[in-house]
Amino acid sequence: MRLTDRTILITGGSAGIGLAFALKFLELGNKVIITGRRQAALDEVKTRYPNLHTIQSDIADHAQIAALAARVKAEFPRLDVLMNNAGVGMPKNLREPATNLAGMTAEIDVNVGGVIRMTSALIDILTAHKGTVINVSSVLAFAPVPALPIYSATKAAVHSYTQSLRFQLEDSGVEVIELMPPAVRTDMTSEFPEEISMITTDELVKLTFAALKAGKAEIRPGQSNQAAFMRRLAPNFINRQLWKASKELVPAGER
Ligand SMILES: NC(=O)c1ccc[n+]([C@@H]2O[C@H](COP(=O)([O-])OP(=O)(O)OC[C@H]3O[C@@H](n4cnc5c(N)ncnc54)[C@H](OP(=O)(O)O)[C@@H]3O)[C@@H](O)[C@H]2O)c1
Repeated sequence: MRLTDRTILITGGSAGIGLAFALKFLELGNKVIITGRRQAALDEVKTRYPNLHTIQSDIADHAQIAALAARVKAEFPRLDVLMNNAGVGMPKNLREPATNLAGMTAEIDVNVGGVIRMTSALIDILTAHKGTVINVSSVLAFAPVPALPIYSATKAAVHSYTQSLRFQLEDSGVEVIELMPPAVRTDMTSEFPEEISMITTDELVKLTFAALKAGKAEIRPGQSNQAAFMRRLAPNFINRQLWKASKELVPAGER
């Protein structure tokens, strides 16, 4: 992937992994637009990094995605990179009936629906510029963390969708990259047990940019690569290890 002189839209760029990538892309001489649901978080980032462009938008909302796509095409007509990064993950108790059935699948609307809708809404401009799509899935696409059952399933879905997208776009000049991070220390993982080893966003950026420079299409930084291997070698072992490590995260009631 060419890493400079691009116009890049990163969903969920106001915190964590998205913000770390936004700052790295900015440093490399790109124009970077970030989105998020909370205007206050975007404003705070804008104050600290005035060169970032910010747009409030919720990728779970069809109308907001359509409005975002229209605005980006008008204000940033050279857009040629979409990084589908925004995501949410919550531990879930599957043993009891949920009182909030809509809440049971909220992660699907964001993590899967958001990626599919954002890509569709911008595919014309990305194709016109022979651009790049970067989908952020997870190491959990290979093996679920059972305490995060819906989240893990969404990441497996993004992994599958990304492979299909890559095939469908292979003659279009659009590059399709998948980033499959291991556990990374961010707001999303702040309640994870200490035994779970995590890398920092800086480490993730360093490992990922080395892979992007090397032209990799499926990037599995650090432990993600080992997990991909272990999943083939001993799937039952790795699944049980992830269950043991995550058991205490399962909420007593619905969450
Ligand atoms: N952290 C990890 O260990 C890890 C590992 C593998 C993969 N990932 C993936 O990496 C991505 C980023 O995760 P993270 O750890 O950086 O999370 P994070 O620190 O919680 O940040 C999430 C970002 O996404 C935004 N966001 C959430 N829901 C959104 C929505 N519906 N529409 C638009 N923006 C939304 C948040 O801002 P608002 O709240 O203001 O919307 C925030 O900017 C996710 O796809 C996650 O699944 C994370």
